[in-house]
Amino acid sequence: MASSGQAAKHTAGAALGRLMPTPGQVATASAPARPRTCSRLAPFGTTIFAQMTALALETGSVNLGQGFPEGPGPELLRQVAVAAIEEGDNQYPPGVGVRELLEAVALHQQAEYGLSYDPSHEVLVTAGATEAVASAVLGLCEPGDEVLMLDPSYDSYAAVVAMAGAVRAPVPLRYDGERWVLPPGELEAAVTDRSRLLLLNSPHNPTGKVLTEDELKEVADVCRRHDLIVVTDEVYEHLVFDGRRHVPVATLDGMRERTVTISSAGKSFSVTGWKVGWACAPPELLAGVRAAKQFLTYVTPAPLQRAAAAGLRATHQLVSPLVEELASNRDLLAEGLAGAGFPVRGAEGTYFLTVDISEVTDEDAVGFCLQLPYRCGVVAVPCPAFYADPEAGRHLVRFAFCKRRSSIEEAVERLGRLRGGGSRP
Ligand SMILES: Cc1ncc(COP(=O)(O)O)c(C=O)c1O
Repeated sequence: MASSGQAAKHTAGAALGRLMPTPGQVATASAPARPRTCSRLAPFGTTIFAQMTALALETGSVNLGQGFPEGPGPELLRQVAVAAIEEGDNQYPPGVGVRELLEAVALHQQAEYGLSYDPSHEVLVTAGATEAVASAVLGLCEPGDEVLMLDPSYDSYAAVVAMAGAVRAPVPLRYDGERWVLPPGELEAAVTDRSRLLLLNSPHNPTGKVLTEDELKEVADVCRRHDLIVVTDEVYEHLVFDGRRHVPVATLDGMRERTVTISSAGKSFSVTGWKVGWACAPPELLAGVRAAKQFLTYVTPAPLQRAAAAGLRATHQLVSPLVEELASNRDLLAEGLAGAGFPVRGAEGTYFLTVDISEVTDEDAVGFCLQLPYRCGVVAVPCPAFYADPEAGRHLVRFAFCKRRSSIEEAVERLGRLRGGGSRP
């Protein structure tokens, strides 16, 4: 384990070399003339989350990089999944999803938001929200169509837009000194006659922003006027803090008919590894999503679908303590980071907060995050990976607070050592 500055530099440098190659782009004497990885995907390399989690394991650091909770998941869900496996529910379920989950999703949308979906024709189960987003983009866009998305955005969006042969059109979020905002006019300014679809995400990864009702109204207005389809990723729908309320864009006037609303069990019920997601949309939109999904995973494991349905039926019982715990972790981490000298951009929801490192170091976020495990034994995620132009996220680092209290406490203690220059614990 590196302890001196020189060794740390060497080790981080080696890590950088290992982390950065993009498959198919590296030419060697024995490499074939044509790269193996297709040009659409070569620029994306390995996801930043996998890279930083590998670094956390390698260095024994507290992993505040990738957004997954450390616990085993709720007992209720585990029991339902195990019972379904034991009862033999282990063959292909229906392609659209098991009836129990389709009905639970429809009931949830009705009870939470007053949105009415027919479980037979307007709900589709997917392999996590990731597959729902991918299927929506692949199933609803032609090559060359422009896909508007908030900038920064969750990293899978840009990759799936590239897979579809579509074009990413960034809509910048800005920090106004107090909170992240979607400045008026930015969405309208990004629309062209090739715009097909807006890929929205609120509560938002990586900023922790929750879109306000005014922002949503403007989004709805632009989408209606330009006849845009909206694909909205609402996986953090229940993880909002300080009395805020998540408002699905589909609830706004004239929006249900043009919106694919996506969520999943992973974040709401702390089972991120299960990858049980769903999409709700009117039949003519859902048909496109289903057309792609059936040739991706085809189905999602039935026992996990049954457990997700049980989770949805017990949403409040499961989510209320989680939100309390997350908000309290957020406060502890924000305090610790502020104490270590970092200006914190607070989270209104999600698992994440961001810090601007430009006031404490000249390093960029990638260099900073590669060194952090060696300096103080904490892993975070550099935000350039979330931006269309990585330079825009040059000074931004994301920390996840969806971890055990003891992990947050340990991370805060370690980050505190940075004030004295930092050394490996
Ligand atoms: C905004 C967003 N969408 C989707 C996902 C992935 O969801 P799932 O695991 O259900 O595919 C994540 C995970 O971090 C996320 O942050």
